[in-house]
Amino acid sequence: MILVSVGPTAGALAAPPVAWELAVAGHEVQVLLEPGTEHFVGPGSFLPASTVVERPSGVPDAVLYLPATAGTLARISHGLDHPAAETRESGAPVFVAPDLDAATAENPAVRANLDRLREDGTRILLGEGGGRAGVEEVVAGVLGGLGGPLAGLKVLVTAGGTHEPLDSVRFIGNLSTGKMGLALAREALRRGAEVTVVAANIGRREPGVAWRDVRTVEELRDEVLREAGGTDVLVMAAAVSDFTPAAPEREKIRRSSGVRSIELAPTPDVLQAVREQNPELFMVGFAATHGDPASDAREKLEKKGADIVVGNDISREGVGFGAEENEVYVVTNRGERFVPRATKAEVAGEVLDDIQALIDEER
Ligand code: CTP
Repeated sequence: MILVSVGPTAGALAAPPVAWELAVAGHEVQVLLEPGTEHFVGPGSFLPASTVVERPSGVPDAVLYLPATAGTLARISHGLDHPAAETRESGAPVFVAPDLDAATAENPAVRANLDRLREDGTRILLGEGGGRAGVEEVVAGVLGGLGGPLAGLKVLVTAGGTHEPLDSVRFIGNLSTGKMGLALAREALRRGAEVTVVAANIGRREPGVAWRDVRTVEELRDEVLREAGGTDVLVMAAAVSDFTPAAPEREKIRRSSGVRSIELAPTPDVLQAVREQNPELFMVGFAATHGDPASDAREKLEKKGADIVVGNDISREGVGFGAEENEVYVVTNRGERFVPRATKAEVAGEVLDDIQALIDEER
């Protein structure tokens, strides 16, 4: 159970989405509202994902002070706050997300309290430039700090489907919705990885991960190449167009123009380009196939230099593109493993088990 202790500042508005995201990641969340917090958020804002309590029901697996006022920092740095003291004693992590104005942050007593907390092993969560951490930064900091089998690893996931423009309003796309990619991102996050999603035309955002929106194959390739250098594992779950209109029109093509055919040019192969630049990167590809997914996946494993290719048969009803479920073959150069039909979250768990096993062997 994660205990979130919410302090009375405007930063308290970040507490309900953070509590919700921690709950979505599979944690039980209990919320303590410090006196005065009701001026900013009420208990109802935390329902139904978490429960608001007077006292935690047991010793938490972690405590998060969000937001922590100067008063809270003073209390916990001097061992005067019950949940923090008890949690620290049990060896579980304590996270603090301070919400201080510039003058308070410079105050010598406040700085001394923060130093004392750091020395005690408390994790101080700050945003870019040392200011207040945003929802994403807090969630990533807590989930990463909780440990887990993938702690310390950076995982980059592409999800969704590319759009290649035909003219100013039309494109060549595909039926991918991003569900499988996001399920993989969520599972990697839950296992402690730091996760970035390169999202090709996905409407909703996945909590707790860094997010890069892209539209075309070229944008996706550029973003992946930019991120790949600092990444340990790349999961290419996005459905990437193999072709793009050779000369897209700037304006809308009119019926009266009489267009009968459109010339297509091949797109760059993203996985191959990434492999050329990053020989050590652990790469997972996907293969959506009509027919024999295992042999197609095996072929792509070779051709693209991937460590794993996940193959699925898209001719089957109810699995694959847009569906809630999937059924896949996980192919590595050791052999293949069939993962029978299950929810995409469960399939993501199986794929991550294989990723983890191979990485552990290499370490
Ligand atoms: N992929 C890629 N770059 C492309 C096309 C695909 O990196 N331009 C990635 C996909 O994200 C996927 C894997 O390669 O992880 C396999 O994609 P797929 O379209 O099945 O493979 P292709 O090489 O395009 O082969 P084919 O279309 O002939 O099946």
